Amino acid sequence: MPSTAFLTAFIGLRSSLRPIAFYHDNRLEPIPFAKWLCGLRHLMNKMHDNDSTTIVRAATREDIPGIVTVMKSSVTEEEVVGFGGMNSESPFRDAMALSVAWLDPNRVGPEELFVAQASGRVVGVVAMEERDLELEIVDIDVARAHQRKGIGKSLVQFIEGRARVLGKRAVTLGTSRNAEGVPWKSLPFWQALGYAITHEEENAWTLSIGPGAREIRMRKEL
Ligand SMILES: CC(C)(COP(=O)(O)OP(=O)(O)OC[C@H]1O[C@@H](n2cnc3c(N)ncnc32)[C@H](O)[C@@H]1OP(=O)(O)O)[C@@H](O)C(=O)NCCC(=O)NCCS
Repeated sequence: MPSTAFLTAFIGLRSSLRPIAFYHDNRLEPIPFAKWLCGLRHLMNKMHDNDSTTIVRAATREDIPGIVTVMKSSVTEEEVVGFGGMNSESPFRDAMALSVAWLDPNRVGPEELFVAQASGRVVGVVAMEERDLELEIVDIDVARAHQRKGIGKSLVQFIEGRARVLGKRAVTLGTSRNAEGVPWKSLPFWQALGYAITHEEENAWTLSIGPGAREIRMRKEL
């Protein structure tokens, strides 16, 4: 049963802030404003809770517009300067290109895609690739407005669960360090989730970023 305060706030909203009555001990009484405000806050928290109920599932072709929206909103052009920039060639930045590259049910090339969904909308995307006894997280993005709400963590935990089911020994990934030695901002996220730096390297990808850039390789044993 919803609490009285919840019903009160609900009625308060529905009646567009008209004078409010409160049914208490079988009597109709005026509600003190503070009490009504408390009920309203409770309702808002409840709406927020519902909004933050996130499920992670395999992506489908229908998710393509949502995936592109997430990919385009997770970082800004300015942030990525020196860290690899926006890859304008990536099919993940254009719904038409992504639908051409899409292999049903949820693949793009060797990558398998999973999405986080909240309130019916795609709010996060993760791409993984099987590599022998390891599972590589190739990419992960959470829509900017939904970051720091535990969605990235849910996506990573989902991939770790999948890796265990597939009998993998570890989950691996790479992030970057710019020429000035500054790591990409996601490094604390990975460390908070138990990923350790194994080594740093120069490779074809870092050379495409520019001289001095490094890939930071990370790993979590399962
Ligand atoms: C990195 C990213 C996927 C994290 O997703 P998220 O939903 O924002 O992260 P979560 O809320 O699940 O964070 C889990 C924990 O990681 C840590 N964390 C996350 N982002 C952090 C940050 N920027 N700085 C420090 N710690 C951070 C915190 O401990 C956090 O727990 P807390 O919020 O209770 O403190 C998301 O910020 C993103 O899309 N960034 C842009 C794309 C990107 O960088 N991808 C990774 C490429 S390697």
